[in-house]
Amino acid sequence: MNAAILPGATAGDKDFLLAVEALTVSFDGFKAVSDVSFYVDPDEIRVIIGPNGAGKTTVLDLICGRTRATSGSIKYKGTELTKLSESAIVQAGVGRKFQTPSIYDDLTVFENLEISFPRGRSVLGALMFKRDAAVRDRIDEIAEMIFLKDQLDKRAEFLSHGQKQWLEIGMLLIQDPELLMLDEPVAGMSVAERKKTAELLHQIIKGRSVLVIEHDMKFVEDIAHRVTVLHQGKVLSEGSMERVKNDPKVIEVYLGH
Ligand SMILES: Nc1ncnc2c1ncn2[C@@H]1O[C@H](COP(=O)(O)OP(=O)(O)O)[C@@H](O)[C@H]1O
Ligand SMILES: [Mg+2]
Repeated sequence: MNAAILPGATAGDKDFLLAVEALTVSFDGFKAVSDVSFYVDPDEIRVIIGPNGAGKTTVLDLICGRTRATSGSIKYKGTELTKLSESAIVQAGVGRKFQTPSIYDDLTVFENLEISFPRGRSVLGALMFKRDAAVRDRIDEIAEMIFLKDQLDKRAEFLSHGQKQWLEIGMLLIQDPELLMLDEPVAGMSVAERKKTAELLHQIIKGRSVLVIEHDMKFVEDIAHRVTVLHQGKVLSEGSMERVKNDPKVIEVYLGH
């Protein structure tokens, strides 16, 4: 893993999967994200923590193109994302999971994974294309990873909350993104489900990086290679979980209460 970049330094883009530099967005003059820089390595799990309203979700919105930056840059494998459309960013290999699952309740687990396969972006197109062996194999492989191998024929509406979250992660994985972004993936999950989700993340980072927003500190300790702490739209601290949790500034604004 690369050594931490000094504040204000400019990274050589090549070494990083994602280089966010001086990223700023104002909503009617209010800076929700203000001069944020951070760098994510290949195969890294980075967690963003911080109090409510710190700007965490907005950072993901900016990376996936849902919100346009006021200034700053977001380079993904050296490509500037701030100029690309949301769909071009997905095509480039960036997958994003929102806080509420967006699975199709009346389709089975298998069908949900199938419609997410890159070949069939529309529901109709996907249901009509031939289920060839390669697609089936990939769905089986993903289903195994997300602990739903025995539930392939179950309608998604009958899954538990945690299983729905895993299914949605699976729907992103089947598109094989190199950067996967997850907003509070274990919210509402049981302790056992949280542990399995941590396992899942460690499994899927071979060949990709994961950017996760999370509040559950036990979960963060289980998964994070490095942690970036946001506060009032700015980076307050960054480093290993060990370093960040002992940082007096972090204790004061976030971990202390
Ligand atoms: N589209 C928007 N328009 C105006 N204000 C917004 C918008 N999106 C987010 N905000 C504001 O920006 C701040 C950061 O929000 P958010 O990124 O959702 O925080 P977090 O995810 O860290 O809780 C909040 O004060 C929120 O109200
Ligand atoms: Mg949020």
